[in-house]
Amino acid sequence: RNSFGLRRAPLRVFRWGILLALRKAHPSNTPSALGLPWVLALFPRNAMAWFRTVPRDAVSQLARHLHRRPPAAANATSLPLPPSSSRATGVRAFADGGSGKSDDSASQPGAAAARDGAKKQQYGSGWSSRKHKCRFAENDMMVMHPDTNRGIEVLLNPIYNKGTGFSLGEKERLGIRGLVPPRGFSIEQQCAKIWESMNHSGKTNMHKWRSMQALQDRNETLFYRLLVDHIEELAPIIYTPTVGEACLEYSRLFRRPRGMYFSADDVGHFNAMMYNWKTDVSVIVVTDGSRVLGLGDLGAHGMGISVGKLDLYVAGAGIDPSKVLPCVIDIGTDNEALLSDPYYFGLQRKRLKGEEYIAVIDEFIQAVKNRWPEALVQFEDFATEHAMPILKRHRHNVLCFNDDIQGTAVVVLAGVYGALAATGQDPADITKQTFVLCGAGSAGMGIANFLHTAMVHHGLTPEEAYERFYVVDVKGLITSARHFKDGEPGVNDIRPFAASRHNKVTTEGMKLEDVVRLAKPTVLLGASTVSGLFTEEVLQLMGEINHRPLIMPLSNPTSRAECTAAAAAAATGGRAIFSAGSPFESVTVDGTTMHANQGNNFYVFPGLGLGTILVGADRISDGMLNAAAEAIPAFLDDAALARGEIYPRINQIRDISVKVAAAVMKQAVAEGRE
Ligand code: NAI
Repeated sequence: RNSFGLRRAPLRVFRWGILLALRKAHPSNTPSALGLPWVLALFPRNAMAWFRTVPRDAVSQLARHLHRRPPAAANATSLPLPPSSSRATGVRAFADGGSGKSDDSASQPGAAAARDGAKKQQYGSGWSSRKHKCRFAENDMMVMHPDTNRGIEVLLNPIYNKGTGFSLGEKERLGIRGLVPPRGFSIEQQCAKIWESMNHSGKTNMHKWRSMQALQDRNETLFYRLLVDHIEELAPIIYTPTVGEACLEYSRLFRRPRGMYFSADDVGHFNAMMYNWKTDVSVIVVTDGSRVLGLGDLGAHGMGISVGKLDLYVAGAGIDPSKVLPCVIDIGTDNEALLSDPYYFGLQRKRLKGEEYIAVIDEFIQAVKNRWPEALVQFEDFATEHAMPILKRHRHNVLCFNDDIQGTAVVVLAGVYGALAATGQDPADITKQTFVLCGAGSAGMGIANFLHTAMVHHGLTPEEAYERFYVVDVKGLITSARHFKDGEPGVNDIRPFAASRHNKVTTEGMKLEDVVRLAKPTVLLGASTVSGLFTEEVLQLMGEINHRPLIMPLSNPTSRAECTAAAAAAATGGRAIFSAGSPFESVTVDGTTMHANQGNNFYVFPGLGLGTILVGADRISDGMLNAAAEAIPAFLDDAALARGEIYPRINQIRDISVKVAAAVMKQAVAEGRE
């Protein structure tokens, strides 16, 4: 997009092609010989632009021009050729290929005239001067861009600005010669310079976040190029954890608007407001800022999350940056610090609740559907109590998904498929696995439900699949004997898992160790927020039951993980396949190295988004999510699997996203969702 007119290039090539073909047919078919109608027909835009650049008093201008020109050139019947003055040398050098090298011989009148004559012979008069697009700059009579600020607008527009990357030709065409430094740098050189300055010692992650924001505000092309080239290092800056720090003080860091804010004060106007966004949109990330990462309610500051997430969509899957829209729905905040912050830019009032809240979300979804019916909406960082109800309410009517619920579940399932591959099994062998899951909160039940869906997808009946799960919460094993209060959040999700544990062997409230001893699980999952819940005894049991047990302490942050990588490796002699929600170092025990994997939703959402918008899916089905999960481990070679790696490297994200997108599209087509 940054190389001015790139999208128009095919059209131009086509037009020039026609003209060249006409010329080939007969050498006299120059633009002037073809006549005005032909030129207008073939180059309507160029012709109009040319006419605009010709001064009104054309006759007197021509007379002045003739007066200046060397006699030989004055005889030319067509457009004026470049004067053979030394002033024109630089321009001519540019026309010779933009090398910027000056040609000494060109400054000699004789040589220039000879060259002009040769060119006229070669191309016919008029043709050569048309070839020299800079002819207007070569004499004072004609001005490149007399009545537009196009060049300045380009410099100030982060989508088009190239900083020090403009070539001489672009500077000429845009009329910005002299407005940017003389030397042009390649995008690789620009990236290297910024990367170097960003990695100066002493720069904190927040410094880097600010630098990246500033870059995005002035030169998006360079921003995304840098992000793509250094995705492993920059994803944690652009997104979690650094973006969390930025969200804490987003009002103070605010420099330039990005995305759209829909507030409780705008209710009734969402539909009209959508039209304030002028470009077509394919992907929307929306948050209500009620549970930003692990930081709680940050209100309108949640915009930082939507922006960061969409940056990863662009970098990870090559989604057109002009077609993404970060949104925040500001329905107030219950964060006392923000309510009393004089510079907080969101609504300083308590959050809407209940029906009022749901009505605002519904209005937003309806407005999106009206404006961009095919856009994908990704719900991000909604509080637990709202996340699942909103998803259930809209997932069957709108192309949408919730990354915290579904994205996370897909990544965990991808890890399970990866572990199956590492132990020489197929995805279908998920039906033979037994899961012990600690934590029956929204994360735990979201994961359990999705694993259950995958088992059903691979052939088990729902009842058979439920029996493969042992769910343990703070009170111990959940069985059919557990009393649930109607209306309690998440109760409906837990009930079928509880109902499947009804035999005499499993007793209500059984301790984790006893459950593991009894169930002999192949996979141990933690979403309990309880550090050390996977005791040495539990881990040793897992090592005794399985040659390569899959141990997944998913609770965040690191301090809440159910066990450390070191504990898992020590208890299993390094045989465990380990994947955590937080980062851990790999551990070597008695010469065996246990690789510490970390699940990351980044493996999923860019490819999922790309696939759904490319195939034009009407909804995101569980089958499509399962297809995404199966596609991810396909990136692991035998050596990586043998090392216990169950996720590929993040720096392969572009390729991963393509495969995920392809798998999602294939499944969507199979389900007739395109
Ligand atoms: P939550 O507070 O809603 O649920 C916690 C659950 O753990 C409850 O069911 C509770 O009864 C249970 N629990 C508490 N103590 C226990 C114990 N001693 N033994 C067994 N169970 C116990 O929390 P939520 O939202 O479900 O999140 C849980 C964790 O999962 C958080 O740390 C969160 O960061 C993490 N998470 C991780 C993700 C990942 O991809 N790694 C994604 C989403 C959440």
